[in-house]
Amino acid sequence: MAIKKMWGGRFQEGSSKLVDEFGASISFDKHMAYEDLEGSLAHVKMLKHTNILSADDADKIIAGLHILQDKLANGELTFSTELEDIHMNMESLLTQEIGDVAGKLHTARSRNDQVATDLHLYLKNRLEIVIDEIKNLQKVIVKKAEENVETVMPGYTHLQHAQPISYGHYLMAYYQMFQRDIERFEFNKKHTNISPLGAAALAGTTFPIDREFTAKELDFDNIYANSLDAVSDRDFVLEFLSNASILMMHLSRFCEEIILWCSYEFGYIELSDKYSTGSSIMPQKKNPDMAELIRGKSGRIYGHLTALLATMKSLPLAYNKDLQEDKEGVFDAVKTVIPSLKIFAGMLDTLTVNKDKMLHATEHDFSNATELADYLATKGIPFRKAHAIVGQLVFEGIENNTTLSDIPLEKYKEINSEIGEDIYQFLQSKVAVQRRHSLGGTGFDQVKLQIKNAKKQLNL
Ligand code: ARG
Repeated sequence: MAIKKMWGGRFQEGSSKLVDEFGASISFDKHMAYEDLEGSLAHVKMLKHTNILSADDADKIIAGLHILQDKLANGELTFSTELEDIHMNMESLLTQEIGDVAGKLHTARSRNDQVATDLHLYLKNRLEIVIDEIKNLQKVIVKKAEENVETVMPGYTHLQHAQPISYGHYLMAYYQMFQRDIERFEFNKKHTNISPLGAAALAGTTFPIDREFTAKELDFDNIYANSLDAVSDRDFVLEFLSNASILMMHLSRFCEEIILWCSYEFGYIELSDKYSTGSSIMPQKKNPDMAELIRGKSGRIYGHLTALLATMKSLPLAYNKDLQEDKEGVFDAVKTVIPSLKIFAGMLDTLTVNKDKMLHATEHDFSNATELADYLATKGIPFRKAHAIVGQLVFEGIENNTTLSDIPLEKYKEINSEIGEDIYQFLQSKVAVQRRHSLGGTGFDQVKLQIKNAKKQLNL
């Protein structure tokens, strides 16, 4: 026989099995079981504190909720689809523990403020974990950057050799990107750290509840000022998905470069065996699967963001069942982002850098062309003209298979008699990098400064 619904009073017939299955959220909102119990505990303590419930009844409910907490921790709770969601499952389990007094728990509360509370609590905790994992990755970046301040590699624009840079500088660019991610998640915390509890279904309640009390119990910094907003706001989830999308985009760009750079053609880095995989047919293969998978998973996070934005669009106030669609995306995003960060950090930490290969790539190309143009400009040649002269030299070099360093001094003197032997010094890629002292540039001193500031930021 079908279980009588908690809201079944006005119904003569039970709902169809298909409706029960389609409407149920227990298969995924069970991930908020811990938060649901936490929210209920705060609520019942408030009902006791405000004398809405007698101390006797409240204490029985509190004891029952504690039993459920223990059972949850031991994996002893089983949930049923017929009871639809985590909230009604928990109430039913509580009734099994303590009898009909359990029915008093839902006084002055609705599932609408309950589910919003659960989701705020869920995300509040996960945000801390995500931020910590980003910081761990930043620590790995700083460590690697420190080892590679003077590692010279080609810097690219349009994926063409542009100017030589320090690999440490390259790494520190990602440090900054992840720092902005942290700041976005920190701001996200502000909007997650608000208590919807006490908004009830949509309009508040006639019971003399104390919303400050529950907010304090649940460690919320703030309280929703408007009950309609409290039950229908999912901005904090959208912010999370949006922040997670940007974070995954950063990881994906980083992954893309790792994938390229460990290819035979580049050979700048090699992944450790721990973070690589082989092929079932080609014995020689060492594939960057983890980097590819993180790059690939960025797509599903964008999908979750787009899905929830579409769900929320045109949604009238206040609660609508559409809002049940908010959870799977965010749970999956949490489940994706945290391991992506962990795996990426491990992969970066254990990869080896082929410094010679990187340097070599800057010594047989024309990425020092700007150096030469700058040098000519210091001899009084207008930069535009210097650019044209060097452009011509590059063209000839490509024709003759020679570099700018191969051009004899006499030829340089024909361009300008003040050009001296020191020109060859300037053309060296390491010197080119070292000399870029402008604030935030790739000069070794500047990279060291960035690392120093980062270490301060990370309390290292
Ligand atoms: N399972 C529901 C959800 O996730 C809980 C809230 C249900 N509220 C309601 N009025 N049907 O959104």
